[in-house]
Amino acid sequence: MKGIVSGNFILHPSKHCSHSSARRAGVMELVTNSLDMQRVAELIERVAATEANVLVLGESGTGKDAVARLIHDRSARRDGPFVKIDCAALPEELLESELFGYEKGAFTGATDSKPGRFEAADGGTLVLDEIASLSPSAQAKLLRVIEERSFERLGGKQTLRLDVRIIALANVNIKESVRGRSFRDDLYYRLAVVTVELPRLVDRTEDIKQLAETFARQFAARNGRAAVGLSSEALESLLGYDFPGNVRELRNIMERAVLAAAGDRIGPDQLPDYLRSAARLMQSRRHKPSLAELEAVYIREILEYTRGNKTRAAEILGISRKNLYEKMRRYEIGGVRGQEARV
Ligand SMILES: Nc1ncnc2c1ncn2[C@@H]1O[C@H](COP(=O)(O)OP(=O)(O)OP(=O)(O)O)[C@@H](O)[C@H]1O
Ligand SMILES: [Mg+2]
Repeated sequence: MKGIVSGNFILHPSKHCSHSSARRAGVMELVTNSLDMQRVAELIERVAATEANVLVLGESGTGKDAVARLIHDRSARRDGPFVKIDCAALPEELLESELFGYEKGAFTGATDSKPGRFEAADGGTLVLDEIASLSPSAQAKLLRVIEERSFERLGGKQTLRLDVRIIALANVNIKESVRGRSFRDDLYYRLAVVTVELPRLVDRTEDIKQLAETFARQFAARNGRAAVGLSSEALESLLGYDFPGNVRELRNIMERAVLAAAGDRIGPDQLPDYLRSAARLMQSRRHKPSLAELEAVYIREILEYTRGNKTRAAEILGISRKNLYEKMRRYEIGGVRGQEARV
């Protein structure tokens, strides 16, 4: 398949890339139903054909990793290495030695020399995740590698030349770091030759149905089940939710729903309680809720809004903390522990 399929705009990895590598990375298809995501898909297509560095911006779970993989798989480097490093996961010194490698004796404990991820990515793509957390020193080194396409290992004298395309991933607030000068603007512009900005899922509700169905299909197949469809009530609940965890959250919800569904249909009961907002319950024409039902749903909603902070929730609800605890027990919300993480 070549290019973007018009109509439903499902972008498949290039036919040249091996299916197993795409499957390993979890990128089989990128749902791009909404106009915004269609633009993203077109940009991916265009940028994949070039050698430009790419900056992929988006909130957590919006698909940054998926986009990086897709760009690599659709580029001329697809048969080269695809190497990823999470810049937030390692302390400063360790990160630099991971990135650039080191020579024997470069620091205490360097009993042998070791190539870094840059060398590992030679001829392919290097994905720098959470780029905003790079230290000033690592930022300076990275800038030099990009400008000169060469570097030395830590403690090394030999200059190594490289052919690596960099795809940097970051939360949108990296722009504030640039304004606040904690992230160098010269480096930013070197990385952001092309910027792919992924919209939040709540800003592209047109994608929700297709994403939910795609995930339901995937998880059903993975569990050896026949196709599992989505009832219209379940879809309504999904459409009314704001998905702070974006596509990843929807994926997790669908995984649980497929496992919980006894038959071939996912109904509202297979979805987490917090999807049923009080407003939605009141609008339902099929079922008029009791005050207690509404109260339970609304308390859950407020607890979710305060991210589990009960003092704040009690304040908003206009009741005492003690009263809130009593109601939570009565309605079996969260237990006082346990569900705390969930609400
Ligand atoms: N448009 C899409 N179509 C299909 N699947 C998607 C899409 N966007 C994201 N996904 C899937 O959602 C999950 C989360 O995406 P991904 O890991 O790429 O997000 P991320 O932005 O890198 O998140 P984080 O900031 O937490 O690292 C993955 O399983 C990914 O395959
Ligand atoms: Mg990621």
